[in-house]
Amino acid sequence: MKQATCLVDKNYKIDDIDANLYGSFIEHLGRAVYSGIYEPGHASADEQGFRKDVLACVKGLSVPIVRYPGGNFVSGYKWTDGIGPISDRPKRLDYAWRSIESNNVGIDEFVDWCKKANTQVMAAVNLGTGSPQDAGYMIEYCNHLEGTFWSDLRRKNGHKDPHNIKTWCLGNEMDGPWQTCALSAVDYGKKAREAAKIMKWVDPDIELVASGSSSPLMNTYPDWDRIVLEQTYDHVDYISMHRYYENEGNIEDFLTSFADMDDFIKTVAATADFVKAKKRSKKTMKISFDEWNVWYIKKQTEHPWAERPAILEDQYSLLDALVFGGMLCTLINNANRVKIACLAQLVNVIAPIVTKPGGGILKQTTYYPFQQVSIYGRGTALKTLTTAPTMSVARGEVPSIQTAATYDVEGNKVTVFILNCNAETIDFSIDLRSFGKTIMDEHIIMDGADLFAQNTFEQPETVIPRNSVPIESSNNLYSLNLSKLSWNVVRFSVA
Ligand code: AHR
Repeated sequence: MKQATCLVDKNYKIDDIDANLYGSFIEHLGRAVYSGIYEPGHASADEQGFRKDVLACVKGLSVPIVRYPGGNFVSGYKWTDGIGPISDRPKRLDYAWRSIESNNVGIDEFVDWCKKANTQVMAAVNLGTGSPQDAGYMIEYCNHLEGTFWSDLRRKNGHKDPHNIKTWCLGNEMDGPWQTCALSAVDYGKKAREAAKIMKWVDPDIELVASGSSSPLMNTYPDWDRIVLEQTYDHVDYISMHRYYENEGNIEDFLTSFADMDDFIKTVAATADFVKAKKRSKKTMKISFDEWNVWYIKKQTEHPWAERPAILEDQYSLLDALVFGGMLCTLINNANRVKIACLAQLVNVIAPIVTKPGGGILKQTTYYPFQQVSIYGRGTALKTLTTAPTMSVARGEVPSIQTAATYDVEGNKVTVFILNCNAETIDFSIDLRSFGKTIMDEHIIMDGADLFAQNTFEQPETVIPRNSVPIESSNNLYSLNLSKLSWNVVRFSVA
């Protein structure tokens, strides 16, 4: 049997994990909002029309922040269409997804939904068709107390207290030719900088995310990130990253997507540090990895200007959940730089949660690794020193086992997350020698004979985690069998 070892030392600290590392995303896209989180008339709808079954499922993921309202949608969105009496709101064509937007949900309702879901809003302003001043007005509407046109309008619309939305994205994927009113890096950088100035004048307590490259596959990457930061460095707090993976035929390439994601983060961090040096700045730019996932259905099915079309409704397999776990490890391993990350998306659209209009709710395979990491992956990220066989894939020689570890000092818990990309069982030992006495609490596994198995409404528990019997050790050395192609969460108590 092949062997691998993993040393986790409490002194090898990467950084404290920002709670916002486990954020997500709801866009006005397909059925994410309408018949996703919001479905008046549904048996589980509350007085505002929000589905309580969806709220319960979202709460189960412990998501600290949710990006809204887009995504590509935001670049043609007039946020004022979504405020005031619902019956007065205009129906509009949404250019991004060729859909009809009813505007029945807008920023006020979304803030209410976030409160119900125990989460925070990460709002995006429109820097496509929108102007820097529109962005300023939106902050004034949301965060200014009272006594001005926009703040008093919010109060009139039923929200006396300011929303106090702290984190704001300066547009979305403005490097993409698909984006409504896409810009060059210099033009976007200038527009974002001027919007940022107004937004921070209106509320100095907010933090801002500049739009980085939509993907490392863009021809403009990484110059885009450099140029945008050269224009905005002193005015923003984060640079964004987006990356989606799919199975293009070679399973090992796909399983080891975590390695590509790691390279991408390191390159953006290096690019930001180059600008930092050039500007003689003392500030280190944080990263907001605010779109990441596995995504297959890129093309929209024909749906000429439909309301809530069922688009981008990917169904996820065990294989996708494994890849997903590897990506979550990469986020933890870069916790010193990545301070916000958003699983794109949360409900129905490339999402871990799927609803039937008028019907039930389903947890996809990817729900489980996200839930485990979001709940157990808190505290401090520790560097894992893992020695494992490598794998030769299209992007080069990469580790065949991906690991991450977290230490919850207050709760006295250590958690080790492991993705085994090998198509064979691995003898894997975890060495916790620095922790004093430890006890293994549980070993949770996701694996199975069929890598392409999925959860369906008919068989919702085809792919769910299982528990293996914890093993004992008198010397803090735990020798486990990692089943082939498996995702593992191993939890320990520190005495
Ligand atoms: O998450 C789906 C889409 O992917 C978003 O709207 C866009 O930002 C990205 O291209």
